[in-house]
Amino acid sequence: MEELRIKREFFQIEIAKGEIINFGRLFGNGHPVHLEIGSGRGEFLIQKAEQNPQVNFFALELKEKRIKTILRKLDPQNHGNVKLSRVLVDASITEYIGENSLEMIYIIHPDPWPKRKHFKNRIIQKEFITHLKKILKPKGEIFISTDLKEYASWILKLFNERNDFKSYYENGYTHISPEGHFETHFEKKKKQEGYNPFYMRFIKMTD
Ligand SMILES: C[S@@+](CC[C@H](N)C(=O)[O-])C[C@H]1O[C@@H](n2cnc3c(N)ncnc32)[C@H](O)[C@@H]1O
Repeated sequence: MEELRIKREFFQIEIAKGEIINFGRLFGNGHPVHLEIGSGRGEFLIQKAEQNPQVNFFALELKEKRIKTILRKLDPQNHGNVKLSRVLVDASITEYIGENSLEMIYIIHPDPWPKRKHFKNRIIQKEFITHLKKILKPKGEIFISTDLKEYASWILKLFNERNDFKSYYENGYTHISPEGHFETHFEKKKKQEGYNPFYMRFIKMTD
């Protein structure tokens, strides 16, 4: 319990309403910031942070149970470039993350919401992409993966309809695990069920 409290103090921040996070102050340096939305059990976040000490990783996760799991895996000695917050990410993201402040956004296997009547719950929506665009730096990137073909098509259609992002992949996606990617809990589970992940990467082209 005491260990978890100490880790919370070191790694976890409360999002203050109406206050833009000062990443320089939060991490104590001016390194580029990468954001992960929906970190789950933190496999991707932690391995990515360990491999890239010159990058700051900020993770947003909705569920307290998942936050605790991530905190247990983190240690201040090795993960000084990680901070996280428990928050339901939505359009208000631009109220706490400043414009042009991120180099990279990762959304690894977002909840798929496969039923038509639940499509509205999907995090990737036209307006949400516009919000993500605001907080990305020019030439910043959004990396998204999903195992659900129908969700991949939904995502590709939304990005194809706009001219402010360019797909890194010619067909819009690849099934080959990209260099520097780390398999997550959800990804492993879905692969065991026979699904082949779609990896997508979009580059911000205009302001
Ligand atoms: C399908 S799981 C994938 C988790 C992890 N990325 C992985 O691949 O194993 C989706 C995760 O996103 C989180 N999540 C869903 N909606 C969210 C939201 N609006 N804001 C923050 N986290 C969210 C869930 O709590 C869950 O941990």
